[in-house]
Amino acid sequence: MKAFKHERYGASDVLELQEVQKPVAGAGEVLVKTQAAALNPADWRTMRGDPFFIRLETGLFQPKFGILGADIAGRVEAVGPGVTRFKPGDEVFGDIGAGGFAEYACAPEEKFALKPTNLSLAEAAAVPKAAITALQGIRDYGQTQPGQTVLINGASGGVGTFAVQIAKSLGAIVTGVCSTRNLELVRSIGADHVVDYTREDFTNQTYDLIFDAVGNRSVGDYQRALKPAGIGVIAGFTTLTHMVKIMLLGPWISKRGGQKIAPMNANINQKDLGFLKGLIEAGHVKPVIDRCYPFGQIPEAVAYLEKGHARGKVVITVK
Ligand SMILES: NC(=O)c1ccc[n+]([C@@H]2O[C@H](COP(=O)([O-])OP(=O)(O)OC[C@H]3O[C@@H](n4cnc5c(N)ncnc54)[C@H](OP(=O)(O)O)[C@@H]3O)[C@@H](O)[C@H]2O)c1
Repeated sequence: MKAFKHERYGASDVLELQEVQKPVAGAGEVLVKTQAAALNPADWRTMRGDPFFIRLETGLFQPKFGILGADIAGRVEAVGPGVTRFKPGDEVFGDIGAGGFAEYACAPEEKFALKPTNLSLAEAAAVPKAAITALQGIRDYGQTQPGQTVLINGASGGVGTFAVQIAKSLGAIVTGVCSTRNLELVRSIGADHVVDYTREDFTNQTYDLIFDAVGNRSVGDYQRALKPAGIGVIAGFTTLTHMVKIMLLGPWISKRGGQKIAPMNANINQKDLGFLKGLIEAGHVKPVIDRCYPFGQIPEAVAYLEKGHARGKVVITVK
């Protein structure tokens, strides 16, 4: 089968179209004919091996596996022994961690759920990682209650566009932070208020929850913009220093009582994929797709996402 692989770390030109072995579904695994894949910042970070510590997992000097792509949607081609939830022909979506930039992908059945009936495969591929991050950030880490004020920094990106819709579906009053060109988009997906970060500073007001999908603010900024019992959930990071500061200072602030500030790590699971399928089928959430690239243009798509200004999700379609 064809796959985009990288044999070394670097810019998107390290991604090369290669002929590789088609995977075989082992016990408990599902083999999917990939029909669409979606990009996440984790793809270009892994491609670059940056920050360096991720190489402890992906390979110190060169990539161990080399096929990027976590989010996929497609048709089940075969199932391994012991698979109970899927059968050949089912249309599924899921986050398989890596290996999605290929014509076929194989992963444990827990990584998948049946595709929402009202989405195309390209739309379904856009959902898993970004929407689960948004869901767990807003509902679980953020403990959002109806009527609470929720600020979403990075509201126009892959995670942010889901976060705005999920927070609204939980009854929150949502403020989305984005640049001038995205104000209308963020309003159109349900934000009650918008803050243009090129003109205004969102820390001038206070909120019950700040969900940060950018990660460009200091701990002091979060403290200033949170109500006395407010929660800050930090999903994205612009620098390693910022990440370390949140990891060190967050627990200390949270321990003192009152405000809580915590980094988050999405835990991809079938239950939450199913929950999102329900929200999507009920019409509460719809993926926002910025661009669709054909399979052969995966390097161009990754380079585009890496610029950091996608409006919603960037999707790959595989013939
Ligand atoms: N913790 C986890 O488990 C987890 C899981 C998934 C993703 N993440 C992280 O979450 C972050 C967001 O992911 P993503 O998929 O949403 O990325 P993305 O789609 O690449 O985000 C791009 C968006 O960020 C906006 N943005 C850039 N600078 C901004 C600023 N200063 N203020 C407000 N918005 C700004 C851009 O809007 P403009 O063009 O208007 O600037 C653009 O719409 C990434 O760091 C990613 O690694 C974490």
